[in-house]
Amino acid sequence: MLSVGTAVIGSLQFGYNTGVINAPQKIIEKFINETYFERYQEPISKTTLTAIWSVAVSIFSVGGIVGPFLIWIKCILFSVASRRNSMLMANVLAFIAAALMGFSKIAHSWEMLIVGRFVVGLYSGLSTGFVPMYVGEISPTALRGALGTFHQLGIVVGILIAQVFGMEAIMGNDDLWPLLLGFIFILALIQCILLPLCPKSPRFLLINRNEENKAKAVLKKLRGTTDVSSDMQEMKEESRQMMREKKVTIPELFRSHLYRQPLLIAVVLQLSQQLSGINAVFYYSTRIFEKAGVEQPVYATIGAGVVNTAFTVVSLFIVERAGRRSLHMLGLLGMAVSAVLMTIAMALLDQLKWMSYLSIVAIFAFVAFFELGPGPIPWFIVAELFSQGPRPSAFAVAGFSNWTANFIVGMTFQYVEELCGPYVFIIFTVLLLFFLVFTYFKVPETKGRTFDEITAGFRQTAATGGEKNSPEELNSLGADSPL
Ligand code: GLC
Repeated sequence: MLSVGTAVIGSLQFGYNTGVINAPQKIIEKFINETYFERYQEPISKTTLTAIWSVAVSIFSVGGIVGPFLIWIKCILFSVASRRNSMLMANVLAFIAAALMGFSKIAHSWEMLIVGRFVVGLYSGLSTGFVPMYVGEISPTALRGALGTFHQLGIVVGILIAQVFGMEAIMGNDDLWPLLLGFIFILALIQCILLPLCPKSPRFLLINRNEENKAKAVLKKLRGTTDVSSDMQEMKEESRQMMREKKVTIPELFRSHLYRQPLLIAVVLQLSQQLSGINAVFYYSTRIFEKAGVEQPVYATIGAGVVNTAFTVVSLFIVERAGRRSLHMLGLLGMAVSAVLMTIAMALLDQLKWMSYLSIVAIFAFVAFFELGPGPIPWFIVAELFSQGPRPSAFAVAGFSNWTANFIVGMTFQYVEELCGPYVFIIFTVLLLFFLVFTYFKVPETKGRTFDEITAGFRQTAATGGEKNSPEELNSLGADSPL
């Protein structure tokens, strides 16, 4: 619990920074306006303000885009520092970001705010790789799925904390907003104090370093028993398999027809997570609620955070029973219906005042359906779709796709909203339906199947020249494969 809890402080930071700029948007915009006036002796134009704000929001994901590649370079080329020490070192970025954002007001510089958001994005990009990797490697096999979902849980709790702290009475006011953004300093400090108390990944010690005794000692500590022979056995098997299967670089991943199908699925699932429009809600919900005539938009935003957290817990309990494919489809369909409701509520607001309540219900439902499937599943399905050799490269490509789509939504949402008015969520509806159809035709169920069975399914699809590639056929191929 200590090790998983300490690692997911990284996920918490990612969530915190996703949610933190939502509630205080107006207050920080006021600061930008004042600073602009001081510098140029004229008020800022609406276009410039929207541009600065959109950049400040979305540059976070530019940092996130770069992060996965740093991990990939580290894993493939260096493999020097352990997962634990890499997480420790990444905190340098969190401290720098905290200082830049925390002092931006005193320094009268929105540029510092923007650079700080970029740096903390970099940290978050690293976290989305290291945290699931470390947690997966220290977990007992039987708990790997449940503990893996703690990454998403960390993210959603981070979003919620940020929303609560962002309330005017707490830190979302003219005086304390720098503290609100600089708060990540404390999280980074806690992680730095606790990480040295956590063991290094035993898989890293054995497989990458060949330090069998150390790995054994760590395992005994983690499992709380002296008999760790079955764990050691399994790790040695993984080590042998890794030697058989050479590492696959990103260009090779794209070139080989063997990986075409799983790569397509991994990338489209990442896109389905982000282009569902979820971060339009988590970056801009206060503004959306305001436009929808909700009187206390900040409370509605916090409500969305609570629903978000509650349904992640629900997903944690049902994902092993209901399966990934069905939950993902249910989530996408539910989101599409909620987006239509949202549009109706926004469009009829002028005629019917109570439509603002419908908009709250619609956004809550949108978020709840997201967390059933499209939230947690894309993060961990990548590991399931690929075997040991291509896995790090696949993670890099998937992370890149995810963060790029995150960036596009964060950057363009305000502009598209100005263009489309109340109909902006129709765009997400269309995308959601597309992803639903894709999942139905292309994504196999991975629940309860070993990595070998899943990859064997894809290998045989590739061998038949892609003729057999419906989910049912992929499932049956994997299940009775001699491999
Ligand atoms: C997922 C997404 C992240 C989003 C969060 C919302 O983790 O990757 O971008 O903000 O879910 O809960």
